[in-house]
This record gives sequence, C-alpha cells and structure tokens, in this order.
Amino acid sequence: MMRLTIIGFGNQAKSWALNLKDSGFPVRVALRPDSSSFEAAVRLGLDVVEIGSAGFYGDGAYALLTPDLAHHEFLVAQSNLLSPGTVILYAHGFSLLSHNFHSRYPHLQHVLFAPKSIGSELRRQYELKGKLGAVFSFEHFQGPTVEIEEWLRHLARALGINMGPFATSFERETRADLYSEQGLLCSLVPYAAGEMFSHLVETGAEPELAYFECWHELKLVVDAMVDKGPEAFFDLISPNALVGSEKGYQKLITEDFRSRLRSLLTEIQDGTFNRELENNNVEETRRRIRDRWHQSPLQRTFDTINRQDGP
Ligand SMILES: NC(=O)c1ccc[n+]([C@@H]2O[C@H](COP(=O)([O-])OP(=O)(O)OC[C@H]3O[C@@H](n4cnc5c(N)ncnc54)[C@H](OP(=O)(O)O)[C@@H]3O)[C@@H](O)[C@H]2O)c1
Repeated sequence: MMRLTIIGFGNQAKSWALNLKDSGFPVRVALRPDSSSFEAAVRLGLDVVEIGSAGFYGDGAYALLTPDLAHHEFLVAQSNLLSPGTVILYAHGFSLLSHNFHSRYPHLQHVLFAPKSIGSELRRQYELKGKLGAVFSFEHFQGPTVEIEEWLRHLARALGINMGPFATSFERETRADLYSEQGLLCSLVPYAAGEMFSHLVETGAEPELAYFECWHELKLVVDAMVDKGPEAFFDLISPNALVGSEKGYQKLITEDFRSRLRSLLTEIQDGTFNRELENNNVEETRRRIRDRWHQSPLQRTFDTINRQDGP
C-alpha cells in the first residue's frame, strides 16, 4: 500500500494521522524543523520526519494538511525535489484553484480528497464508528486512475469514511464549502444562536436556560436532523414546535434573505470573496472574532456550565 506523508499536525492532520495509524494504513507526519508539534506527534506513536530532510523524499503520496494559504509556500520550496508523478492530496480545492497548481506543477499529480468534517469530529466519529462522508476529484490526475482510485478508497476506509467518497470537482467542492461556511455553518448558526441567547437573557431568562435552548440543544436537534432526514425530523417535533417552525420559516426565510444568501454564492463565484481574503489580515480577524465571543454572555455561560460537575 502506498504510504501517505501528512504535512502538518493541525486540526485535520492530527485526526488523519491517528485514524490512519489505528487502521494500520502506512502513514507518517512531516513537520517544519521548528514545529512545536514534534513532541506531541512522537508521543502519540506517530512516525515523524522533518520537511526537507533526506528522509522526507521518496515513494508515496503527500497530503497538504497545512492552512490553505501555506500550500503555495510548500510547493514553491518542495515541488522540484519531489519525484515526477508524486501524488499531492488536498483536503479542500481552494489553494489549487487560487494558484493553478496543476498548471504550475504539471509534473505532480494533484488529487482532491476532502473528508466533510471538522478535524476534531473526524477523530471522534472514527472512534465512535459514526457516519463520515468525503468527496474526491481526479480531474488533475494524468493517466489511468484505476490504481489511485483503489488506493483512495482504502485511505477513505482507513480514515473512517463510510459515506462515499463521492466524485466532484475542485471548483464545485470549493464553491460548496465556502458557501456552507458563509451562509450556514460558521455564520447563521453561531450568530443566530448568540443573538437569541442575548434576547432571552435580556428579557429575564436565566442564562443557563437560554444556553440550553439556543446552544446545547442545537447539537441534539442537528443530530436528529442528520440521523432521521428532514421529513422524519418534522414528524418528530411537538405540535408547538411544528406550528412555531412554520411561523419562523414564513417570517425569517424571506425573499430578502434568499437574495442575501444567493449574493454570498455569487461573490464566491465571481472572485469577490477571493479578493477580500487576499486583502484580509487573517490573524487580526481571528483576534477580533475571539474578542467578540470572549466577552459575550453566551461564552461566559458556556464556561460556567462546563466547569460544573453534574449531580
Ligand atoms: N480545520 C478543519 O477542520 C478543516 C475542515 C475541512 C477542511 N480543512 C482543510 O484541511 C487543510 C488543513 O487545515 P487545518 O485547519 O487542519 O490546518 P491547521 O490546523 O491550521 O494547520 C496547522 C499545521 O500546519 C502547519 N503549518 C502551518 N504553516 C506551515 C508551513 N508554511 N509549512 C509547513 N507546515 C505548516 C503547522 O505546523 P507548525 O507546528 O510548524 O506551526 C501546524 O502543524 C486545509 O486545506 C483546510 O482547508 C480543514
């Protein structure tokens, strides 16, 4: 079985490395010489190598599991030292599309393999034998794909993927991923929850009650939605919730909301978001968002509740 070298030891990389090791798939982790993760990776029983050391090069595929904005730097430094035909795996199509890696580095084989999960859940669901999905694309793989497809399916199973992997393209994966982050997963869900938590507390609800209603129960409801599917989910909820759901739907999901959602997708497709990203100081943005939530009553309630032991 062709070995996979995972570059980095962050959110995705750590889960990939541990799942593959536990499944007996040949895997190792490659880190920068000054990486603070060396000790942790070794302690977890992983085979670790320095990026750029003699042992780094050789047979096998490489998964770029560093932040997307760092992929270009890696390929600039390493692409000429990797043997022609080396497979580079991407867990997201964004960096290849932004820099046209397939045209710049045609001697490498560029393959998309994107588990559809945040890193921490990739590990947790593997341990729980939960449901995990993934997509792939061979559009920038030159030559017959029979062997690489077989290898990718082994890799998927070893990672705990049990839905798919399904074929897509780099462009469609990137567009769908950015759109779901912007319109639902990382905006609407946490911010609507935060707003509603504040409204409840401002109008006299205990913060603990508001926390359960707006944050903790979200997880339980989403689990049911994903487990049962949309039709059965609406059969599960109480008459009050059903009538309330219809009222909220009619009131909130307006033409204006639909048009705002669509504009997010348009701005992904026409390159506006890419330009905004290029001009963004990501660390500054991260700090601002962290401060916003750090000071929020929802975060304080989360901290208090999660510090307490149960009865
Ligand atoms: N976060 C998620 O759960 C998630 C979900 C879906 C897809 N993805 C995709 O998965 C990929 C990895 O994302 P991530 O969020 O997991 O990354 P991440 O946690 O931010 O990656 C951090 C790791 O990358 C290493 N690193 C950073 N810059 C580097 C460089 N220039 N050269 C070598 N190593 C470098 C760091 O090494 P040091 O120890 O040396 O600092 C660290 O080990 C991305 O393509 C992302 O789009 C992520």
